[in-house]
Amino acid sequence: MRIAVIGLGKAGLPLAAVAADSGLQVLGVDLDPARVEKINSGKNPIPEEPELEALIKKHVGQNLVASTRYEDASACEAFIVIVPLFIDEQHKPDFSILEKAFKSVAAVMKPGSLIVLETTVPPGTTEARVKQWLDASGKNFKLAYSPERIMTGYSVSRYREFPKVVGGVDKESGLAAVKLYKHFCKAVRLVSNARTAELIKVAEGIYRDGNIAIANELFKVSNKIGVDFYEVRRFANHQFCHIHKPGSVGGHCIPVYPWFLINEQDVPLIRHAREFNDQMIEYYADMLEQKIGTGGKVLVVGITFREGVKELAYTRGIPMIKLLQQRGYDVFVYDPMYTEEEIKALNFKYSKTFNSMKGIVMMNYYPELKDTLLTLKQRIVDVKGVFNDFAAD
Ligand SMILES: NC(=O)c1ccc[n+]([C@@H]2O[C@H](COP(=O)([O-])OP(=O)(O)OC[C@H]3O[C@@H](n4cnc5c(N)ncnc54)[C@H](O)[C@@H]3O)[C@@H](O)[C@H]2O)c1
Repeated sequence: MRIAVIGLGKAGLPLAAVAADSGLQVLGVDLDPARVEKINSGKNPIPEEPELEALIKKHVGQNLVASTRYEDASACEAFIVIVPLFIDEQHKPDFSILEKAFKSVAAVMKPGSLIVLETTVPPGTTEARVKQWLDASGKNFKLAYSPERIMTGYSVSRYREFPKVVGGVDKESGLAAVKLYKHFCKAVRLVSNARTAELIKVAEGIYRDGNIAIANELFKVSNKIGVDFYEVRRFANHQFCHIHKPGSVGGHCIPVYPWFLINEQDVPLIRHAREFNDQMIEYYADMLEQKIGTGGKVLVVGITFREGVKELAYTRGIPMIKLLQQRGYDVFVYDPMYTEEEIKALNFKYSKTFNSMKGIVMMNYYPELKDTLLTLKQRIVDVKGVFNDFAAD
């Protein structure tokens, strides 16, 4: 069977590689020529995803071929689309990337093809927008939604181990998508329809955002009444209680997906959790002021949205830096994923001299920093809760 994967990014490329490894012939389409060239020369463009290297080397030029041209996918029987959906400053989704990708698919697909969307989207998107974009081609097609559930760094194993949820716009589409995913996913679960599958993915993100908001509120209360939050969490969590860790929430998943409902539905609790988590940087800035007073040199450690992933999408690191600057601190940045030149190119001051700083805000943690951090504990705002982890080691 020949399939096309549209978008060879952090989500699409692991999918394409796992599908190729199952014996499917995979044509990956991506608009970025440098990325396509790298893949076709057997190199892994996502260093954070170590398992990919071997799969690309094994299948490139055979079961896995990348191209910038949609025409090369015209012989495919199925198309899996996984290009990004961003939200703007007002938190409204911008569908233009998806629209362009689907219209390109519509132009080359054979009648009767199966089209599946994997990008996380507001519930209803597949049945309304995507169907309309494809309908304009005048061809018949099967259409389904199946959320990816990867996490960069673990994507290959997640495709193989996590249950794959699938929902069709009609019964035939759902069954065709199940048949496709059975080639390379361990367990495939057909749900009632595409919008159910869409809400399943959005619900996961909302659950985590709400859970972190509860953790953040309990963290504040614990600090206020002189209780160790992490001790509370350790003993509260059991069969019926799963309190997450407190912290700031960044990245292109958890801070984005709640808006897909907030924009269109009456969901005050979900909205409050989202806004509450975004405001946590203010609380950490207050903690810093309590520790070190006003003014002076402060080092923000970690600029990416999560440790180990070199990406600034919806990171809270940058708003934190700006907030501390507004409050009058002389802010320096250190992130082991970025060189001094790269930090300076972002218009921030670089430093890795931890002990010359009056205060340190730990947005991300890297194990090689442990010894340094232990000697400077009194001046650190521990956003990641690492001192608790050290104590438990
Ligand atoms: N990366 C993750 O950990 C993760 C986690 C959860 C969900 N996701 C989902 O995956 C989606 C994609 O994210 P990603 O991390 O892979 O993004 P990414 O930025 O890493 O990659 C997107 C790729 O799509 C390509 N592209 C853009 N427009 C295209 C078009 N019209 N045709 C072909 N290719 C096109 C880009 O060149 C890029 O290589 C997200 O919107 C999200 O729903 C990703």
